[in-house]
Amino acid sequence: MNRKLRMVLNGFPKEEDRGRYVEILSQKEVQRARRFVSSFPEYQETPLVNLEGLASRIGVANVYVKDESFRFGLNSFKALGGAWAMGNFLADKLHRNIDELTLEELLKPETKEAIGDVTFYTATDGNQGRAVAWVAQKLGQKSVVYMPEGSSAARLNNILACGSDASITQMNYNDAVRYANEMAQKNNGIIVQDTAWEGYTEVPTHIMQGYGIMALEALEQIRAQNLPEPTHIFLQAGVGSMAGACQGFFASVYQDACPVTIVVEPDEANCYYQSAAQQTLVNISGDMRTIMVGLACGEPNIISFDIMKHWSSAFLSLPDYVSGDGMRVLGNPLPGDTRIVSGESGAPPTGALYHLMTDPELASVRASLGLDEHARVLLFSTEGDTDPDRYRDIVWNGAFSRFD
Ligand SMILES: Cc1ncc(COP(=O)(O)O)c(C=O)c1O
Repeated sequence: MNRKLRMVLNGFPKEEDRGRYVEILSQKEVQRARRFVSSFPEYQETPLVNLEGLASRIGVANVYVKDESFRFGLNSFKALGGAWAMGNFLADKLHRNIDELTLEELLKPETKEAIGDVTFYTATDGNQGRAVAWVAQKLGQKSVVYMPEGSSAARLNNILACGSDASITQMNYNDAVRYANEMAQKNNGIIVQDTAWEGYTEVPTHIMQGYGIMALEALEQIRAQNLPEPTHIFLQAGVGSMAGACQGFFASVYQDACPVTIVVEPDEANCYYQSAAQQTLVNISGDMRTIMVGLACGEPNIISFDIMKHWSSAFLSLPDYVSGDGMRVLGNPLPGDTRIVSGESGAPPTGALYHLMTDPELASVRASLGLDEHARVLLFSTEGDTDPDRYRDIVWNGAFSRFD
């Protein structure tokens, strides 16, 4: 295999008032989301792990990893977005202020009766569907979930276990999203999709604010542990809602002193990387075959696109082995470091950092990003072993290695 990690620096012109793009992700907005989401009894902060052994081994000052495998017992960060978005939808339906609602209040018989029956629709490679199905179940409502061709049976079963009407279709991801939207309209349901397009921005804005909770927690944990604040943040992108949410949150906190933010994508679905290279929004279609299934999306969220265009520093396009190496690095810690179980879409930031710091051919890329012994790097491991067989194949059997 001779595919290589590639980088484009962000050369998009920046508007004078670029701060307006991140107002929706201010600390205040994300704290509002957390107040509601933390009314779910399963809510708990996920760990922020300080990997000192790894940092000194690869030659940076710090490596912090936010481990989302612990989120709600669901093995990924995703339900943070669904909970806030679906809560907002119900609040609107009730003509109530979400800031005064809790899950308990929404489940009271009189409130439930006023809401009536709601069916939430979504398309997913796995985590988004599990999130929507789980939140719908917690809210006492229904969900319908469509998965693209080739989706994993283990992931489908996790969604079915939340009482959802879920199925694997013969469509690719983008087509499954369009189909879910059509079916929601036809059946008077609500589409809860984790991406924005022209005319569909309210739900995805809420989803992004919910994801922002992960970034808010990370910042608070760094400060509470008196750790030095990050100089570099790596964010993995599919449609980019999660990356845009975290980028937006940190931009609104640090403003012009924002850490260097590096967006990473699979090379088969690198719509942000291609957009940065061509200086215009680029959509990618086709099968997008990659092990990073959560990132196999070719059409940027238009809200995130504006945020990342104005705030992100660089875009990386990754071969699958970079993700595989990230999984192996996190799953086999150095003495004193904590083990992190990270799946194919969780580990790309770690894999990218590892390659940037250790591959002599990437020395100039590393230098252009200022990644050196002073760098304090924050990474998000957004999922655990959501496909356990594949996890073992990669971490135990060495599948998806650069030597394949
Ligand atoms: C584990 C994981 N990480 C990251 C992402 C990327 O999120 P987004 O599609 O918002 O870019 C996803 C998306 O489903 C995911 O499942």
